[in-house]
Amino acid sequence: MYQRLPMDIPVRFLTEYMVLLCVIGAYATIAVNVGPNKQALRGAESVVLPCQYTSDDAAPTVRWWKEPDIPGQPRTRVYHVTNGQAFTGYADRASIVDQASLKLMNVGMLDEGTYVCSVEKNTDYEEGSVKLEILVAPNPPSISSYNPPLEANSKRQVVARCTSEGGKPEATLSWYNGSQLISGGLSDDDDDQGGTLIQDRDDGTFNIISDLIVALSRYDQGQQYFCQVDHPALDQPQKEYIQMEVLCKYLKKCARRSSIFT
Ligand SMILES: *[C@@H]1O[C@H](CO)[C@@H](O)[C@H](O)[C@H]1NC(C)=O
Repeated sequence: MYQRLPMDIPVRFLTEYMVLLCVIGAYATIAVNVGPNKQALRGAESVVLPCQYTSDDAAPTVRWWKEPDIPGQPRTRVYHVTNGQAFTGYADRASIVDQASLKLMNVGMLDEGTYVCSVEKNTDYEEGSVKLEILVAPNPPSISSYNPPLEANSKRQVVARCTSEGGKPEATLSWYNGSQLISGGLSDDDDDQGGTLIQDRDDGTFNIISDLIVALSRYDQGQQYFCQVDHPALDQPQKEYIQMEVLCKYLKKCARRSSIFT
């Protein structure tokens, strides 16, 4: 094994190089260049799926297809570029820009998927695919189940719950104490309690729920905690704050006396 390894590497490179030469030799007349993959907001006015080609033959046939959501089903016809024809579902909202790029308008959830740009002439055929991911910004986070003042007794307890609804893909929720990240608001000793829960919604988006589970001490009195939502469709993270109020056994040690003791 150890001795054969240096031999294997050049042989593998050589093989790949020869395969590449064969591919170029056989299909030199057409080259298709697609992508990069795209993301678009649900409801976006438009998105362009890039495709460009070169061809030695004049006027090759260029088409756009959509891969099936269920593998094994046929591809859906989207656009016949050469004939300038949009197919069912794309009639009023698809056009070709920039040689062969597909522009989709009124972007909806169902537009998510893999699109194929194919170019052919006689026996030459080349294609390339572009993925379109639809993003939905989640609602701002909301904090519930916070009923202060809470006991500062160094026992872990569910302090509050943070919920973010309707994001796609799943939003990330995190809890902070001051500027310090609390490891995801997770309970490390009991998976059933707290942690992060993801709910599927009918519209293809997700709700995320994260409980803040910590042991509070008297030093938490007046401390600012917040829940933060991060999501690719948000320009900046969204935050929701709570001011911690705790009950102390020994009043003198409390950072600030709680009115319920007076
Ligand atoms: C929150 O931060 C304060 C100030 O740093 C600290 O005294 C307190 O112990 C922290 N609470 C928790 C539960 O981490």
